[in-house]
Amino acid sequence: MTEQATSWTPPQEQAAGALIRLHGAPAGALRFVWSPYRICPLGAHIDHQLGTVTALAIDRGTWLAFWPWDRPEVAVSRLGHEGQVRLRVDEPPPPARGDWGDYLRGAVQALQQSGWRLRRGFAGVTSGELTEAGLSSSASVGLAYLLALETVNGLEVAPEDNVRLDQAIENGYLGLRNGILDQSAILFSRRRHLTVIDCRRFEAGGGAAAAVRRVPAPSGVEQPRWLVALSGVTRAILATGYNQRVAECEAAARVLLEAAGRRAERPRLGLVTPEEYARWADRLAGAPARRARHFFEEMRRVAEGVEAWAAGDWARFGRLMTESGRSSIENYECGSEPLIDLYRLLVATPGVLGARFSGAGFRGCCVALVEPERAEATAREVMAAYRQRQPAWAERAGHVIVEAADGACVQ
Ligand code: GLA
Repeated sequence: MTEQATSWTPPQEQAAGALIRLHGAPAGALRFVWSPYRICPLGAHIDHQLGTVTALAIDRGTWLAFWPWDRPEVAVSRLGHEGQVRLRVDEPPPPARGDWGDYLRGAVQALQQSGWRLRRGFAGVTSGELTEAGLSSSASVGLAYLLALETVNGLEVAPEDNVRLDQAIENGYLGLRNGILDQSAILFSRRRHLTVIDCRRFEAGGGAAAAVRRVPAPSGVEQPRWLVALSGVTRAILATGYNQRVAECEAAARVLLEAAGRRAERPRLGLVTPEEYARWADRLAGAPARRARHFFEEMRRVAEGVEAWAAGDWARFGRLMTESGRSSIENYECGSEPLIDLYRLLVATPGVLGARFSGAGFRGCCVALVEPERAEATAREVMAAYRQRQPAWAERAGHVIVEAADGACVQ
């Protein structure tokens, strides 16, 4: 996989062109949703345990071109894919089918189940570069459908409610027990800022004002660059051990809370204080012990990382990312063999300040913080070595250097 340098049409124009061709939509009536992908430099796998996580939206993502119409129906196509998903928006959608249309069906269901009446739909076309890369294309596309449905129906939905609605698509409709990292990053991020999300406060109902902070990078300090190194592995997240690890975290939380004389309806590690963990950790064994170690260490790294970011200390921030990557491998035990190999190559390459898996870490990419003046050269060096060591994945492997971007918006 390489980046196209010539005769490239921006994805929003491709989506608009396809919408005009397929539905005869008048160009002046088109609307757009921009819904970026995200990277998570620190805070791996602790959002579902009510930890604090960091994220940035990037300048790659989903464009949804849509043409509002008065019918209670949506008809959506996706660039590069055959067929169309059609659906009534005023009736309960069918169960998930395991295809890309699930995010549209899930968006309709999430809005209906939270009490919104949908009377209008749209014809739409989504772009979809870099999907299955661990950059959260799922939340990006789910939010794009939600925002378009809300726009055509004139619904005023607060960003924190959109976080919950998108979570309902993933947890409720699709059955993935993930947290709110992806949706929050996509909705709340701003350029040059690190988005810090306190998932415990969010769950407690504090809303974005209490749970989300944007920490600016200091002005006058050169920003490092973000390298997204794609392993070429594209297995779906539900087929991985994601939910099993969530259950192991909760098993650890149950033991620790019981030892501390407390009970929670749904035990999560974020409900255990660091002092309680220090006191009762020896009651844990096996996988739950390793998951808990990851959680509490990662919480410390996030706190330290936020300080490093605010000070523009990229070397320290990068070191923390690398440690987070190591803990994801050793304590959280995620990562497939090619992805772990890519991580090791990255952290051994001069010019890389730090690296870790970007998303769940079973497939997709590693994200690295790289020195700006040699970002491209560093990327080429790493990817050449990776292709040689992993010939089975070489063809689909690739890299992109991305910039931090603003969050989702409707245009
Ligand atoms: C996926 C999930 C997120 C988060 C990350 C790991 O991206 O969707 O909720 O758990 O993995 O940090």
